[in-house]
Amino acid sequence: MSPQPQAAVGAPLSRVDGRLKVTGKAKYAADHDIDGVVHAVVVDSSVGRGRITGIDTRAAEAQPGVLKVISHRNAPKLAYRDAPAGIRPPGQRLRVFQDDAVRFFGQPVAVVVATTPEAAQHAADLVAVSYDAEEPATDLTRSPAEDGPRPFAQPYARGNAQEALASADVRKEMTFRLSRNHHNPMETHATIARWDGDKVTLWDKTQHVIGTRNEVASAFGIPAENVRVLAPFIGGAFGSALRTWPHVTIAALAAREVGRPVKLALTRRQMYFTVGYRPAYEYKLSLGSTRRGRVTAMVHEMKYETSRYEQFWEANQALGQMLYAVPNVSQKVQIVPLDVSTPLWMRGPGYGSAAFVIESAMDELAHELGIDPIELRLRNEPHEDPSTGEPFSTRRLAECFRVGAREFGWHRRNPRPRSTRDGDWLIGTGVATGCYDVFRGQAQAHARLHADGTAVVQSATHDVGTGTYTSMTQVAADALGLAVRHVTFRLGDSSMPPAPPQGASQTMLSVGSAVQDTCDKLRKQAINLAVEDERSPLHGVDADDVVVRGGRLHAKDNPTRGETYRQLLARNNRTHLDARGSYTPEPPNQTRFSMYGYAAMFAEVAVDARLGLVRVRRMLGVYDAGRIISPKLADSQAIGGMVGGIGAALLEHTVTDHRDGRIVNANLADYLVPVNADIPDLKAIYLDGEDFKADPIGVKSLGELVQIGVAPAIANAVFHATGRRVRELPITAEALL
Ligand code: MOS
Repeated sequence: MSPQPQAAVGAPLSRVDGRLKVTGKAKYAADHDIDGVVHAVVVDSSVGRGRITGIDTRAAEAQPGVLKVISHRNAPKLAYRDAPAGIRPPGQRLRVFQDDAVRFFGQPVAVVVATTPEAAQHAADLVAVSYDAEEPATDLTRSPAEDGPRPFAQPYARGNAQEALASADVRKEMTFRLSRNHHNPMETHATIARWDGDKVTLWDKTQHVIGTRNEVASAFGIPAENVRVLAPFIGGAFGSALRTWPHVTIAALAAREVGRPVKLALTRRQMYFTVGYRPAYEYKLSLGSTRRGRVTAMVHEMKYETSRYEQFWEANQALGQMLYAVPNVSQKVQIVPLDVSTPLWMRGPGYGSAAFVIESAMDELAHELGIDPIELRLRNEPHEDPSTGEPFSTRRLAECFRVGAREFGWHRRNPRPRSTRDGDWLIGTGVATGCYDVFRGQAQAHARLHADGTAVVQSATHDVGTGTYTSMTQVAADALGLAVRHVTFRLGDSSMPPAPPQGASQTMLSVGSAVQDTCDKLRKQAINLAVEDERSPLHGVDADDVVVRGGRLHAKDNPTRGETYRQLLARNNRTHLDARGSYTPEPPNQTRFSMYGYAAMFAEVAVDARLGLVRVRRMLGVYDAGRIISPKLADSQAIGGMVGGIGAALLEHTVTDHRDGRIVNANLADYLVPVNADIPDLKAIYLDGEDFKADPIGVKSLGELVQIGVAPAIANAVFHATGRRVRELPITAEALL
């Protein structure tokens, strides 16, 4: 087939759903108007570990409008089969209202259903729960790791890291502490559940409609086809909506118990209890190097937290193995079970935490050796993946640094720490590498071309704010040869052709490749119809020599010879043409390339010399992310990632009272996230190019990549400004005084 002209892909389009969003017509989970809906409010445990000894529901049940109070005392037994294809760490998931055990502070212990949200909330406050409480263990630094095999925390070794470290010219041993960060998307989690006989429909905030369908089916022991999950709009989700949390099952359970549709919206406070968080880390890294800056040894020892009932894991080992050409590497990973709810991946999971440690350590080494931090990284740039020996599909990190250094004005920098002042402010600049996997998933799509020359394309994918509606429309429009306004992309419905979770930055490449395949098939169908149709001006032309542009099929080298989709379908009495397509990556053990996205992050900070206050002055990210389908939305991703990274570097910190496991700052007044006044000029540059070894549309990954490397770039800039090295996140004013 002739390659299609690219008109929409690469154009800086505004969101196709932007108008719906700014006019309030986009419906998020709790916005859906369901006839006869009643309201549920969860009662959370007020102890961090123990047993429920009594639940007095009389006062709650006496309230007007209250329909039912459900707890382990009256809840039906649920099936909780092992679900296929849902995201869940190993272990036994929290089974709602199935026993009297309290496993963490804030665990759901009852739910009140009432005709209004106010009645439900008031009654929930009146439910009196008594406990036999024990002191929980919630402090990572004071709790023992659990021995035993952890499939995702394997020790790793190449060469002999201890020996190489012992004999290295230069050695650095550093311990880093990363605080826990909580998920705080704008839209809080909510679910509406409605049963129709033995079928249930859920309007849910989810990054994985298929996973939620499977999990609800397994919890209730019903066939997956009896569950439909809808999520047309999602108000931000950075991993928290990747799995199906207890409140989703509670909403479905409550709806079944009262025989009415039930809406359950978590409060902001409840978002700190059961929808995951980035786990706290204690991470020791020892580096050995030659005087000339060849890193010869890396010894990683990390521990991070999980719950007692599930073995959370995240991808925190890859960077230490593949980022630099280090001959001797060892890794030891410990996962510490605590009396907490299970963590869940948060933007750039694992990679972001490891990058803070590795990239801070590289900066320390550069300073010690008197080598420019960019130069140090270039001296350790590998020619192939040092962990597998595989060639890189594409790796343009060095180019990211070169382009970034020029754009940022890096070479004007005085390398001496604390050398630049602006009044009371100490000025510093720093760099760090960002890197994230090119994760790929199986995806399918369906497309229909209507007789009026418009098309509808759909896939059970998601748009958490990433811009999926827009970017998929762009891919489809070019593959079909239609104007963007004539293509509609639909998503967020588990009954559509299946797609992977919108996580791990896999949507653009996976669903995008499936959309392209589907629309290629549809276009070929139309072309074949034309060239075989004696009445078509294209009759007899080789199908491979026909392209479609603006809804008109024409011979590649004779644009006057052709006709429109509308003419073609009308003459053939076709109301529409349909096609279904897919994308299937080769299995992981058959990939021949090491595939990652890369970033060079640059930051300039000002630190108040007397108050320790850190202000980010400007940031630049240069990305090797493969082909950029939608530059304007890519910029939104990059800016969002930098904002998230500024939060992680300087503000975000979940504080737990270890006496009872209570999260002390479970609200947006006390849990600090960046506001507009914290955000300076942020700039993103994408290296031009594509990676067709990764996938048919040449895309790598972007959404996670843009946050990885931000916090260490800021930390390194703080060191350059002040001469003070802070090996903790967040970097607080106190640490700099
Ligand atoms: Mo991303 S942490 O996989 O939503």
